[in-house]
Amino acid sequence: MAATAQAQPNIALVKYWGKRDTRLNLPVTGSLSVTLDALWTRTRVELDASLRHDELRLNGAEDPATLARASACLDLLRQRAGTAQRARIDTHNNFPTAAGLASSASGFAALVVAADAALGLALDRQTLSMLARQGSGSAARSLFGGFVSMAAGQRDDGADAVAQPLLDAAAWPLAVVVAVTTDRRKQVGSGAGMERSRRTSPFYPAWVDGAAADLAAAQHAVRARDFAALAELSEHNCLKMHAVMQSSRPPLLYWDGATVDCMQRIRALREDAGEPVFFTVDAGAQVKAVCTPDAAPRVAAALAELPGVEQVLSSRLGEGARRLDDSEAP
Ligand code: DP6
Repeated sequence: MAATAQAQPNIALVKYWGKRDTRLNLPVTGSLSVTLDALWTRTRVELDASLRHDELRLNGAEDPATLARASACLDLLRQRAGTAQRARIDTHNNFPTAAGLASSASGFAALVVAADAALGLALDRQTLSMLARQGSGSAARSLFGGFVSMAAGQRDDGADAVAQPLLDAAAWPLAVVVAVTTDRRKQVGSGAGMERSRRTSPFYPAWVDGAAADLAAAQHAVRARDFAALAELSEHNCLKMHAVMQSSRPPLLYWDGATVDCMQRIRALREDAGEPVFFTVDAGAQVKAVCTPDAAPRVAAALAELPGVEQVLSSRLGEGARRLDDSEAP
């Protein structure tokens, strides 16, 4: 049996940075994100009784590191289906890895939806979100479209650490412009970075303490479609996460010069030119500008002219992970 699914990356406006359990990928804090539309991962999972091991091709090439994580995630679904059958996984991203968009989020969301269908499980969205979380914490959010809330949960088994939809994309149509910067330095991955911050940053306890209030305020701003409040809160939460990263030992300094130039330009666009736009930055140098769709071309043009910005990608908000017809297989 084979099935194909598509999922899009999401961008957190209230960040997840820290785990209360690294094995189950349980977040210390809740988070809030927007799911993108224009960028996608498409994944086909084909069960094959003749295979002795899972096989995976990412954009047409074998990828052992991704295979190991995907296999572990598939095991969770195989256990539920009561089968040990191995699978052939073919997965494609239509966006550059260098864009600094967590492809693990769309990747694991697409994987669980395709595997669920291939195994004939028909699991509900919350369970799929929980399973995707075990692949990558942020993937739990890509099961849903538009604005999405992710709960930290309290249970040790993680059954309540799942995402849920907050507001549809159509109910508040915003756009995201991604400025891809020329960052060549080797970076520390999110999982290792979070652990370093938890162990060494003196600001980590304050980060955790403030998270619930930030999440509640952001949820309120989204429900009220209050752009100014969401802008202020998102930039504050982003810079607070980077303060935790930068105060870790050794420091996690994900920014380069162009990152700072983009943030300054976005602030000037908002404060001087009155454009409805704000920034957010994740564990990389790229800057994501959230704005209204009519402002998106002006924001994209302003960021594209900055030295160090290599490429600008624009997207509207989109739907959650879903099954595709097998004719749309990658
Ligand atoms: C900075 O979900 O990639 O993008 O759970 O270890 O796979 P793992 O981490 P991941 O971390 C995302 C971190 C972030 C903030 C966010 O997306 O909330």
